[in-house]
Amino acid sequence: VSEPSLPGAEAFRTLATRLDPAMAVVTTVEGNERAGCLVGFHAQCSIAPFRYAVWLSKANHTFRVASRADVLAVHFLDRSQIDVATLFGTLSGDDVDKLALCGWDRGPGGVPLVRSCPNRFASRRLVLLDEGSDHACFVLEPMAFEGDGDLVPMRLSDVAHLDAGHEAQERPAPPTERAS
Ligand SMILES: Cc1cc2nc3c(=O)[nH]c(=O)nc-3n(C[C@H](O)[C@H](O)[C@H](O)COP(=O)(O)O)c2cc1C
Repeated sequence: VSEPSLPGAEAFRTLATRLDPAMAVVTTVEGNERAGCLVGFHAQCSIAPFRYAVWLSKANHTFRVASRADVLAVHFLDRSQIDVATLFGTLSGDDVDKLALCGWDRGPGGVPLVRSCPNRFASRRLVLLDEGSDHACFVLEPMAFEGDGDLVPMRLSDVAHLDAGHEAQERPAPPTERAS
């Protein structure tokens, strides 16, 4: 919570630390442009039909590709995968092709499936909800789940020390190529 004026902000910070969400990597593709980032904001959001939501920061390269994409994949990280979390959470596709730095296979619609992450699903992008805050919600329709049944989830507390590739308030500068 970066709004200290919000009543109870400190109590929420304490609560959020205790909830300690599991971490995931979201990947996507549009044309020849592939993208992926580390996320803590994600959850199942319907049972029947099955739906899953991820929230992507508008600062991120992954958000810009995902906003034009039809397919996204969600990979659940094992606690041992600090290298994968560091790759996808501290580097930006604005500077480097992260998929060139790890093994991946083409999933449905060409979405990159990260080889070292066996617990994952590819999905169709159904809607993008933007109510004007710094993250936008992508509601996903999973197509197929894969898993090795053996995940010890990576938690936010395992990676809270990482410096994100983009702060949530960042925006591309210049905002358009024409402006440069
Ligand atoms: C602990 C942690 C949690 C994060 N959670 C999210 C998240 O829920 N959603 C998001 O879009 N970015 C999140 N990020 C930030 C991105 O993973 C990070 O800025 C990444 O470098 C963006 O890469 P991109 O510009 O290639 O998309 C998180 C980063 C860290 C370190």
